Amino acid sequence: MKTKFLKPSDECLQLAANLLVCGEVVAIPTETVYGLAADSTNAAAIKKIFYAKGRPSDNPLIVHISHFDMFKKVAKTITVDAIKLANAFWPGPLTIIVPKSDFICSAASANLDSVGVRMPSNKTALEIINRAGVPLAAPSANISGKPSPTNAQDVFDDMNGKIPLIIDGGACNAGVESTVISTLGETPIILRPGVVTKEDIKAVLGKKILMAKEITEEATNLDKVLSPGMKYKHYAPNAEVFIVKGSYQQFLKFVNNIDEKDCFAMCFDGEEKQIKIGKISYGDINDDESQAKNLFTILRKLDKLGAKKVYVRCPKCTGVGLAVYNRLLRSAGFKVVDLSLQK
Ligand code: TXA
Ligand code: MG
Repeated sequence: MKTKFLKPSDECLQLAANLLVCGEVVAIPTETVYGLAADSTNAAAIKKIFYAKGRPSDNPLIVHISHFDMFKKVAKTITVDAIKLANAFWPGPLTIIVPKSDFICSAASANLDSVGVRMPSNKTALEIINRAGVPLAAPSANISGKPSPTNAQDVFDDMNGKIPLIIDGGACNAGVESTVISTLGETPIILRPGVVTKEDIKAVLGKKILMAKEITEEATNLDKVLSPGMKYKHYAPNAEVFIVKGSYQQFLKFVNNIDEKDCFAMCFDGEEKQIKIGKISYGDINDDESQAKNLFTILRKLDKLGAKKVYVRCPKCTGVGLAVYNRLLRSAGFKVVDLSLQK
């Protein structure tokens, strides 16, 4: 299949909508990462997403809407908490898990009786949903297990020849995927951290918010995870990644002692000069949003540089930094070198 790669002109947005209505898969920009979109009511179209990504069929997709009316259609019931969250954070990078209606096909939700819903703020994404006239299921537009794509070229690298159209809407603002929160129980629980933080959510709901322990720990009981995505390898470049905890001085000493080819240090801005092996910064040490924005782009760039091993300065694990840490932990397959324990 020939993959078209187009800027979002009026003509191209219409082509995207037409393809989607006909049951095709189209890669679209969102404010978080690029998504691989298809009609959430069409089981054959949804199957194509799973095939293009090589995604396990038990991993549900997020459904993207452009109007509150669509929320009422895809959800069986909507709690007061879910309404408050939607009002506060939509359009934007928050996915709210609610009981699923029969309007969307069961393949999209991997046969679960719940569905994750979000209204993206990216204008191109909203326009495409509007023109298609149906909620669009869209996982991140990467091959399963790889870092999510934050620009159209990264999508092309993974999806060339597999889908008919990629819409090039430039670089994504957030750089990490949406925060996922379940409102199925009495107490809301965050299943995946993102740029909408626990503190942001608490300020809106004014009640206790739980955090799934798998956000910072490897899932041990694979049958019991709250989100199927927690079971799988994620965000991994070809290189072997290690998170390095400890001070900058400890990191410097550690990486400058490495005597192996194709090892890279992933550091913070301004730290490059003192590092003797290959190095690349992923943002300002005190600016977790810049780290989130750069993270996946840098992981993909390291593959292009031929990195075999990557040692990453550990981010602060608060605020948006928790989303960065969560993605890095998975990129690293939970491998952490803790230098802070050394004297
Ligand atoms: O920012 C985003 O959320 C991007 C853009 C394209 O919108 N999408 C995205 O989708 O990250 P995906 O499929 O790569 O990640 C969705 C995650 C998966 O880990 C999945 O297991 C979880 O959300 N999820 C989806 N529906 C769920 C449900 N009903 N219950 C529990 N977890 C769910
Ligand atoms: Mg994904």
